[in-house]
Amino acid sequence: MEQWLIDWLNLGLRWLHLITGIAWIGSSFFFNWLDASLEKPKTPKEGVEGELWMVHSGGFYNVEKMQLTPAQIPPRLHWFMWEATFTWISGFLLLVVLYYLGASAFMIDPAIADIGPATAIAVSLATLAVSWIVYDALWASPLGEKGWLPVIVSCLLWLGLAYGLTHIYGGRGAFLHVGAVMGTIMAANVWRRIIPAQRQLVAATKAGTPADARLAKAAKQRSVHNNYMTLPVVFIMISNHYPMTYGSEYNWIVLAAIALGGAMIRHFFNLRNRGRNAWWLIPAGIALVLIAAVIARPTERTLAAGTRADFAAAAGIIAARCAPCHSASPSFDGFDAPPAGVVFDTPADIARFSARIKAQAVDSETMPLGNMTGMTAGERAILGAWIAAGAKTE
Ligand code: HEC
Repeated sequence: MEQWLIDWLNLGLRWLHLITGIAWIGSSFFFNWLDASLEKPKTPKEGVEGELWMVHSGGFYNVEKMQLTPAQIPPRLHWFMWEATFTWISGFLLLVVLYYLGASAFMIDPAIADIGPATAIAVSLATLAVSWIVYDALWASPLGEKGWLPVIVSCLLWLGLAYGLTHIYGGRGAFLHVGAVMGTIMAANVWRRIIPAQRQLVAATKAGTPADARLAKAAKQRSVHNNYMTLPVVFIMISNHYPMTYGSEYNWIVLAAIALGGAMIRHFFNLRNRGRNAWWLIPAGIALVLIAAVIARPTERTLAAGTRADFAAAAGIIAARCAPCHSASPSFDGFDAPPAGVVFDTPADIARFSARIKAQAVDSETMPLGNMTGMTAGERAILGAWIAAGAKTE
């Protein structure tokens, strides 16, 4: 497929994914907050379990939460399912357009595992499916009711997934896949657990029979899980702009620490909404993110004794390893415009981008993309030394 067409598809899907994702996560935050903020009516009202008043955008809103099966439901009932559905569909198509079509650039890193695109894609699809099956079975089993135990088991499984994927894919592809697993579990929770419970609830109410409290409880549990996954999943989706996270040596620990930190911060807000002040969760969550920052420190490079690290040496490396893609007219197969608008055609170009070169090719090894031009550690050290000496071009 033509690259420009892929880029426009990518843009359209990403835009849709972001908008539906904001709507979905926004409603998740809102309903978790709402549930926790409801108060018992001062004067008992028939069938009302909790109520609350809000003021927003120039008007007052009065919400009442009904007992499990209200006496009746009006003909017009709002459901919240399309946000999740479209977030997942757009996310999956984005995965296909960006990662499956560009597997050798964005998924595979021969230095980690020398697999072909077909294997990379098969592993990806299997990971998404198997992760949901394992997660769902765990939480539907008797183990799922044993307090903190299933939480700890889940955390260990996430850690295993992050470790496994960072040892199959390049860092960027691995991070993205952990996020895709989260997104898939979240969407499947909506389709397979939450919506069916709501359908049963509506049908029971209409028929005047009691609702299945077990289904309702499982739906609430999954909705809470989704809420905890929101912060980690959003971090992962933006992480592809930050090579120091996915490009570091212990990237799976970085991912785990930031994800856990995010979930802890979410936990603080959920507890606070219920009137409990577990303030320590905030410094603990931030500490985890700081630990991630320490683990993800830039790689130290040492220049071999007697190696020249002047501009001529740096420019030669960049011309050989980077410019095939990063040029106004790239020579690398499949590129018809400089990726991310970064060009290294003139000495001034190279100097202008020196800080970004350091981030991408010296501090981390995220560039050259998939190391498709075969850059060596010695060459990275030369670039590092040249930049450290002021990135001079004379
Ligand atoms: C095989 C093609 C290819 C090669 C070779 C390559 N890059 Fe890139 N580069 C890309 C692509 C594709 C992107 C855009 C990545 C994305 O979509 O996030 C990119 C993005 C970048 C960016 C912008 C990302 C940012 O956020 O700063 C920089 C800087 C960069 N590359 C530097 C380099 C350097 C330095 C080299 C050589 C050591 C290099 N690249 C070699 C394909 C390449």
